[in-house]
Amino acid sequence: MAKLDEQIQILDFPDLGDERGNLVVVEGGIAVPFDIRRIFYIYGSDAEVIRGCHANLRSEFVMINVSGTSRVKVDNGHETRIIELNRPRMGLYLKSNVWKEMYDFSPDSVLLVLSNEHYDPEEYVRDYQEYLKMVRK
Ligand code: TYD
Repeated sequence: MAKLDEQIQILDFPDLGDERGNLVVVEGGIAVPFDIRRIFYIYGSDAEVIRGCHANLRSEFVMINVSGTSRVKVDNGHETRIIELNRPRMGLYLKSNVWKEMYDFSPDSVLLVLSNEHYDPEEYVRDYQEYLKMVRK
């Protein structure tokens, strides 16, 4: 049985800023544990919206609230955890096959997501019961 602790990781990116302001660099294979093939970002989601609600067979992700805050509930079918993304230097790394839900978006939330894979709807598991069957067998 996979341990959630081994499937997720909080990343703390260094700040290379100076008196001119902050600078955070995220390089594939260095600051995040994969080569980056895709980025997308989510903003303008109201506080009551729940996004995500899926697991991915191959995609890994790093989520960064580059502005504002949100919460991510992660679930591996056995354990769940809620992580608040609340600073631009914090990343949440998720391996594949972790169920995730993003919610509690602040009005200024810009949630940047990096992935090791191009988009492929076929590798998304969007049915929670199907997900549980998959991870509990
Ligand atoms: P969806 O997976 O529902 O977004 P979220 O998980 O953030 O709630 O995606 C919304 C729409 O955007 C859906 O039609 C699929 C499309 N989409 C892409 O085409 N490429 C992508 O990389 C992503 C994340 C979504």
